[in-house]
Amino acid sequence: MNYNRILITGGAGFIGSHLTDYLLEKGYTVRILDNLHPQIHLNSEPPKYLNPKAELIVGDVTKRSDWQRALVNINAVVHLAAAVGVGQSMYQIERYVRDNCLGTALFLDILANEKHSIKKMLVASSMTAYGEGMYACPKCKLKQQPGIRDVNNLKQNIWEPLCHKCKTQLKPIPTPETTPLTSPSVYSITKKAQEELFLAIGKAYQIPSVALRLFNAFGTRQSLSNPYCGVAAIFLSRVKNNQPPLLNEDGLQTRDFVHVRDIARAITLCLENEQANYEVFNVGSGIPVPIVELARVCLTLYNSSIQPEITGKFRSFDIRHCFADISKLKRLGWQPAISFAQGMQEIYEWSKTEVAVDLVQKAMQELNNRQLQG
Ligand code: UD1
Repeated sequence: MNYNRILITGGAGFIGSHLTDYLLEKGYTVRILDNLHPQIHLNSEPPKYLNPKAELIVGDVTKRSDWQRALVNINAVVHLAAAVGVGQSMYQIERYVRDNCLGTALFLDILANEKHSIKKMLVASSMTAYGEGMYACPKCKLKQQPGIRDVNNLKQNIWEPLCHKCKTQLKPIPTPETTPLTSPSVYSITKKAQEELFLAIGKAYQIPSVALRLFNAFGTRQSLSNPYCGVAAIFLSRVKNNQPPLLNEDGLQTRDFVHVRDIARAITLCLENEQANYEVFNVGSGIPVPIVELARVCLTLYNSSIQPEITGKFRSFDIRHCFADISKLKRLGWQPAISFAQGMQEIYEWSKTEVAVDLVQKAMQELNNRQLQG
């Protein structure tokens, strides 16, 4: 084992806690730096699932002194701490840029200017950094990455991106890492910045660095009371509260859901494998799932007779489709092991005893107030 003392920022969160469990199981020593943000952790208390074998430092990545405390005797860092709501990032711009960009900058500044023992560093980027994924035109065959959709089209319920040459409706195809990052939201811009900062400083100072573009993570421990988080937890929370899932657009937009334990394995592989150094990898299932299908699965699991509600509303910065080409990470020996159906069954069993406060209307109202939702 090249690196045995790992710092996981955001280790008390959804992805970080699963990674903590996995690394501890494999014999690593894990320290967590986490600010226990109240949007995720009720009353800012450590979650009950937190592994007692991990050392927890309650602190903030936007404070240099917290980084300094957390980095003592550490030889690898997995930087997951971030503000993660795409919609919320469009009006809490200062917070998102501070938490995600300044948080990353402080760590890298310590590497550049202070004594340290860091030998490897990984950062969680996001599929949202791409903007729209890759598409092909069924008529003129042109492969292309359309830009963010025209609001005038969205207002006329034209949801699918159109070929920039012949205006035919495009078909999504797998998105490889070479696709340009067109980053349509503040959140996605901060993710793009984080990965570029990690790679640039890593290369300049010869500290192996890796950026992982995570697709839509799902699994247990995702907050069911955070309306700014991913759609799987939001729909489960709605259904558990006997409310219909509210589907934007026509519900046929797709996302690539990747199980959180598959993500933990992918991060660990990239930590351990030197061939990952200075590279960027997609971490997805490679399978697009329509949002309406996700809603139906949630309703079926809860044995509910409620129907999903198709609102026809849209968020101007949302993408329509993006699913991962995972061949690059597969070549390192990883592949997803937990299917969407298995993962949803597991998250359902877990959700039965979890508190789920449905705050989705409030989150939508905040977007409406700012004309960010049509
Ligand atoms: C999500 C995460 C982002 C993460 C990215 C990749 C959020 C808000 N987004 O982005 O942090 O980096 O995956 O892993 O955490 N929708 C509805 N009804 C709802 C909520 C959402 O129809 O109640 C729709 C949205 O309009 C969108 C789709 O579901 O079309 C996915 O939304 P969401 O999970 O919020 O955001 P992503 O852009 O996929």
